[in-house]
Amino acid sequence: MSFKALTLWLWCIWLNLFDLSLGAVRHYKFNVQYMIHKPDCIEHLVMAINGQFPGPTIRAQVGDTLHIALTNNLFTEGTLIHWHGIRQYGTPWADGTASISQCAITPGETFHYRFTVDRPGTYFYHGHYGMQRTAGLYGSLIVDLAKGQKEPFHYDGEFNLLLSDWWHESTQVLEVGLSSIPFRWVNDPQSLLINGRGQYNCSMAANLINTTLPQCKFKGGEECEPQILQVDPNKTYRIRIASTTSLVSLNFAIANHKMVVVEADGNYVQPFTIDDIHIHSGESYSVLVTTNQDPNKNYWISVAISGRETTPQALTILNYKTVPTTIFPSSPPSMTPQFDDFNHTKAFTHKILALKGTPPPPQQYDRRLLLLSTENLVNGYGKYAINNISLVLPTTSYLGAIKYKIGGVFDQNPPPENFSTDYDIFNPPMNPNSKTGNGVYMFELNHVVDVILQNANALNGKISELHPWHLHGHDFWVLGYGEGKFKASDESKFNLKNPPLRNTAVLFPYSWTALRFKADNPGVWAFHCHIEPHLHMGMGVVFAEAVQHVDHIPGSCGCYRI
Ligand code: C2O
Ligand code: CU
Repeated sequence: MSFKALTLWLWCIWLNLFDLSLGAVRHYKFNVQYMIHKPDCIEHLVMAINGQFPGPTIRAQVGDTLHIALTNNLFTEGTLIHWHGIRQYGTPWADGTASISQCAITPGETFHYRFTVDRPGTYFYHGHYGMQRTAGLYGSLIVDLAKGQKEPFHYDGEFNLLLSDWWHESTQVLEVGLSSIPFRWVNDPQSLLINGRGQYNCSMAANLINTTLPQCKFKGGEECEPQILQVDPNKTYRIRIASTTSLVSLNFAIANHKMVVVEADGNYVQPFTIDDIHIHSGESYSVLVTTNQDPNKNYWISVAISGRETTPQALTILNYKTVPTTIFPSSPPSMTPQFDDFNHTKAFTHKILALKGTPPPPQQYDRRLLLLSTENLVNGYGKYAINNISLVLPTTSYLGAIKYKIGGVFDQNPPPENFSTDYDIFNPPMNPNSKTGNGVYMFELNHVVDVILQNANALNGKISELHPWHLHGHDFWVLGYGEGKFKASDESKFNLKNPPLRNTAVLFPYSWTALRFKADNPGVWAFHCHIEPHLHMGMGVVFAEAVQHVDHIPGSCGCYRI
């Protein structure tokens, strides 16, 4: 054993024996496994943790250290878990991104994630290898304020809803279809799930009310039975809502009730009142709901793909404890806006502003990337490209490769920082062909980085897709959104006063979105579209920040093939 290997090994033992931190240490054992389950009342293979789908909810307090021992109990497949929204200051190796922060954990192996949670909020975790999130590998992660601290709003009770979408095809079939000629799109999901529960074929309210279908009658204890939210009249509840959908954007509403939005992606926002929220994959919100309606009734809680008929809405019930849970609501679920009604989601998005006291953005930037998202072909395969490069991850992780100066892992030429100004974003690409790549954007410590995301027309037809972009390791300030192609004069429209801090921001069709963040977290971080098939098709980039400042990677404790 070399001296280096010996020190790593001793360090490993040390870490395993003593958790080096000041707050409480919360230990979790997660066994990732396949399980036969009925998420939407139809039997399917799901990825589960400790026999649960979704995985167990992690609940911690600010300042705690989480120690999650993740064992891969799959038979023939690697796995790992990413802690979405947790910034991993000082622990970039625990970010759980395949080929970026670590290698996938092999079957039978255990990897120890250790990181602190430094900010309260509504988060979640999910697989970040292949399309394992689509297969059901996800769960909630909630961080409470430290003892004695108070939220800037009041509530009497709380609920937590993790939203997802579900297909009846196997994830493997979906994944292979995306990587085939002819290309096969995943199409709309069959069901939407609330905390892993949906009701295929009976989730329309009318059916639920008048149903004779046996699968829509719940005797109690069914895996797909909706979780009912039981409330007392005249109280205020906090509902945490996070979306880990693979594909769809969702509209969430509670019939007859208004909601006050108070949190977005773990940051407080200026409270505003609304009838429904529009939530994209990777986003989370907290809303306050006051139970001030007729206490002799129950009300539908609905989650829908805006106005799209193919996937029925997911439903559950807001049950005033004054009436039995079995009484169906007498009024229908809230209407959802039309699928192509982007004005509705834009109006909602523009209302999200930072609560007073949120750190304002630096007024200047050091570096600006202009990233054009396009749909392309590479050797005839359907891909997405950023500045004409479609991301294909290397087999060794960037973090290890950069830290230990291992050559030949990824392209040393950084990808382009901008795109040709004459690119016509309103039409299909003139030349549909792009190329694959795995170069990284390198940032100096504490540089202020602007990213202007630019959307364009899809490969065919006259259409542009929506993309929720998510950054690992940081929050960014969302400086602005605009229509068409970004131009220098748009900068005057940036909000430098109270832009929201978030980890996910939407890029609307034929539009741009401007983000700013500080490269203050040494490590290697993914920045990508949170739609899983789009990421699979290459819609992401990799940021490396001052990796020389990462002091140690507990590689030998788990899979780290360097
Ligand atoms: Cu929740 Cu890289 O994503
Ligand atoms: Cu996308």
